Amino acid sequence: MITTTDLTKVYRTRDREITALDGVNLHVREGEVFGVVGQSGAGKSSLIRCVNLLERPTSGTVTVDGQDLTALAGGGNRASTDLRRARSRIGMVFQHFNLLSSRTVQGNVELPLEILGLTGRERSRKALELLDLVGLADKARSYPAQLSGGQKQRVGIARALAGEPKVLLSDEATSALDPETTRSVLQLLRDLNRQLGLTVLLITHEMDVVKAVCDSAALMKEGRVVESGTVAELLSTQGSELARELFPVGGRPSSEGRTVVDVTFHGETTTEPVISQLSRTYNVDISILGAAMDTVGGKQVGRMRIELPGSFEDNVVPIGYLREQGLTVDVADVAAAPEDATDATEAVDTTGAEDTVDKGADGGTDGEAAPAAGQQTARAEEVAK
Ligand SMILES: Nc1ncnc2c1ncn2[C@@H]1O[C@H](COP(=O)(O)OP(=O)(O)OP(=O)(O)O)[C@@H](O)[C@H]1O
Ligand SMILES: [Mg+2]
Repeated sequence: MITTTDLTKVYRTRDREITALDGVNLHVREGEVFGVVGQSGAGKSSLIRCVNLLERPTSGTVTVDGQDLTALAGGGNRASTDLRRARSRIGMVFQHFNLLSSRTVQGNVELPLEILGLTGRERSRKALELLDLVGLADKARSYPAQLSGGQKQRVGIARALAGEPKVLLSDEATSALDPETTRSVLQLLRDLNRQLGLTVLLITHEMDVVKAVCDSAALMKEGRVVESGTVAELLSTQGSELARELFPVGGRPSSEGRTVVDVTFHGETTTEPVISQLSRTYNVDISILGAAMDTVGGKQVGRMRIELPGSFEDNVVPIGYLREQGLTVDVADVAAAPEDATDATEAVDTTGAEDTVDKGADGGTDGEAAPAAGQQTARAEEVAK
């Protein structure tokens, strides 16, 4: 539905050039919610502004719903009629709402309908219908100043839907909102995506947003897309940074001489039976040090950090068993917690933390020494299969 090919954007200021986009190839499928994440300055806003030609890309192409927008003349405020028409099929939601304070809620939603040339009666009917869709039917005559942030954003979304777009672009639409309001606005975007078959490209810096609503995600760094795919694809990609950030697991081994592994569940295998089968089959005690799991489409996905007694060599077979179940297994190079530790450098998801599953007989604990102490971040390391 949205495809960018080798998209570049270079901003030229008086004394220097800034490459905001450096060959971005992005593919957003019809009907999906696609999230773009990345640090400040990574080029996320530049990307979204190039997708609807608010900024003209320096090179590369943007295709939306089969139409090459970059082939149409103009850009920014000097768009040609063709470009304006194409753009009216792309809804845009902004972080700071951009509502006109002198107009009522209904008046704000009618604005793009005026530009489209609808009659007064048609405008009014359509605006009320859209306000109903976003749950604000009773606020039509209010002014923006009388609304909460979440309500203002709903007006922004209703206005973005006025041109009956197939695509909705959203740049940090929820970052000015509190967590609960964020959830309800995201739920609205998700509902619209399902009800109207709307394709949504949203930019965020919050991983929770991606987890809550996105089918797919891309990570941008320094003007490039460095990872992209469906959440399941990302989870099954060895070493995916996005997967790690979406499902962060922490937790240190209880003592030295243990093997810590991060197991990624892609949704094909159910968590609990696998862990307890492993414990029973090899007669080992398994401790869950941390877990970040979610149910997506009725399947359990996420990551879990577990601890096995003994060195890696002692655990080659159990680890092989996990891999045979189709799971991705990374051996985490993480030191045991110091005795007096109240160390909070790692965020430990408490879901299932410290649980011990199906205790078997004591496994060998006389393995190798734990990796170098003092290491604070868990470095997941792939070990040859
Ligand atoms: N109009 C502009 N003129 C010059 N440089 C710009 C312009 N807009 C953006 N940039 C630069 O381009 C780079 C990418 O900016 P962009 O706004 O796309 O980042 P972002 O990922 O949206 O960041 P944030 O998360 O802070 O919103 C930055 O270095 C920024 O300073
Ligand atoms: Mg931005």
